[in-house]
Amino acid sequence: MILVLSIGGSVLGRDPDRIREYASRLSGLASDHTVFVVVGGGNVAREYIGVARGFDASEAFCDAIGIAVTRLNARLLIAALGDVAYPVPPETQEDALVAALSGRIVVMGGTVPGHTTDAVAAILAECAHADLLVDATSTDGIYTKDPKKHPDAVKLDEITHEHLVEIIADSRMGAGANLPLDILAAKVIERSGIPTVVVDGRDPGQVFDAACGKRVGTRVG
Ligand code: UTP
Repeated sequence: MILVLSIGGSVLGRDPDRIREYASRLSGLASDHTVFVVVGGGNVAREYIGVARGFDASEAFCDAIGIAVTRLNARLLIAALGDVAYPVPPETQEDALVAALSGRIVVMGGTVPGHTTDAVAAILAECAHADLLVDATSTDGIYTKDPKKHPDAVKLDEITHEHLVEIIADSRMGAGANLPLDILAAKVIERSGIPTVVVDGRDPGQVFDAACGKRVGTRVG
């Protein structure tokens, strides 16, 4: 199976134990599957972007800062994976495909301004003809509306690609925006019908349950 895993920066964090746990489980998966990982920027990216905005930096400039942080985080995971990982984060999806020819786990961050690493992962899943995209976020799945703002929000176990696009379409897409998936990611997985599972990445076990076909989080398809 070809698997693309998108791990939010706030999910991976900088706790060595958490990163080590992800690394050891990813190594296990890679013995049976082709594994690509896209790492996000998390709070560190948001903090840097916040400071840059204070200097009136453009949104695209802030995006470039976010991308730099995602690549730093990717390098932390590469360090924890050691020899089973391709040694540098590719900067494009095409370079990621080339890197995968090494037979190693490919870990990358962002690519270009205007979207988040979820979109990077969705496009990578398209390019790689992935069988599954797993999105490890800091919520336990997709809700009908933002559960932090609306106590009556309902978690969905399953959702169609079209419904996902509808839910996300209204959300604002500024640098550092905090969404379960960005609109580009939702549209890419819709147009290519990519089977996707959104899980709570704070529990690494859920990510690997999803990869093994167990019912966790929200299945999009
Ligand atoms: P993330 O993908 O981490 O955004 O990229 P996020 O979803 O807000 O954060 P977590 O990790 O899930 O908590 C951080 C920021 O980097 C820029 C965007 O500004 C994004 O919000 N970015 C990232 C890009 O502009 N292009 C990319 O390809 C990736």
